[in-house]
Amino acid sequence: MQETVVLSLGGSLVNPGKPDHAYLSSISKLLSELPYRFGIVVGGGKPARVAAEMVRKRGGSEFEADEAAIKHTKKNALLVAKAIGKEANQAIPESFSSARKLSKKHRFVVMGGTIPGITTDSDAVLLAECLKAKRVVNLSNIDGVYSDNPSRNPQAKKFRRLGYAQLIGLAGKNDMRKAGTHFVFDFLACKLAARSSIEVHFVHGKSLSDVRKAVEGKPHRGTVVK
Ligand code: UTP
Repeated sequence: MQETVVLSLGGSLVNPGKPDHAYLSSISKLLSELPYRFGIVVGGGKPARVAAEMVRKRGGSEFEADEAAIKHTKKNALLVAKAIGKEANQAIPESFSSARKLSKKHRFVVMGGTIPGITTDSDAVLLAECLKAKRVVNLSNIDGVYSDNPSRNPQAKKFRRLGYAQLIGLAGKNDMRKAGTHFVFDFLACKLAARSSIEVHFVHGKSLSDVRKAVEGKPHRGTVVK
């Protein structure tokens, strides 16, 4: 049986406001060529943030804002599943147990969010636990984990390797528990990765050579946490 690798695929890559079909094709083509089984959790991107904000403006609760955002993660997941084609499930699972069942039939299992209060980073680590994957690759618009937000602080330093405790420390500083706020990697996701010693690789999702290396567990230009 081929090894399973789980990807946390940032919604901002897949859907920065409208679906990026060129990116969907190129990432699907790359992954289809690699000899692995995949679990892919897709993020909400801008549409999820806008939907969550609308719910709040109308007086909705944080729970309802999360529910609205989750719908968009599932829509984005469907875009990814369609781009991959027949090797992927074409109905997005609502739970991890459904995802596990789908993984018996499909080389690719694609899903979005699950329950309010978490993010697709945590879903990705939970899916890795569920599918017994040893490696999670986080694909986003940032090419690694930095000591500070690199878009605001030009002095921010990129880490090549981190331990779980360091990653948990960085994520804890940024954790506001609100839909559409930005974490390095969700705090809970870091804790879950640590409890199961799951390797987490952070690469820029558009650098396909780094994505390939991270999937293979080889050295790349991003950050490795183990
Ligand atoms: P994401 O995990 O995509 O967050 O979920 P993000 O930080 O916006 O990441 P990008 O931009 O896609 O890379 C979007 C929102 O959906 C809700 C949360 O509100 C989250 O911020 N969500 C997601 C949940 O409530 N539960 C989930 O399981 C997943």
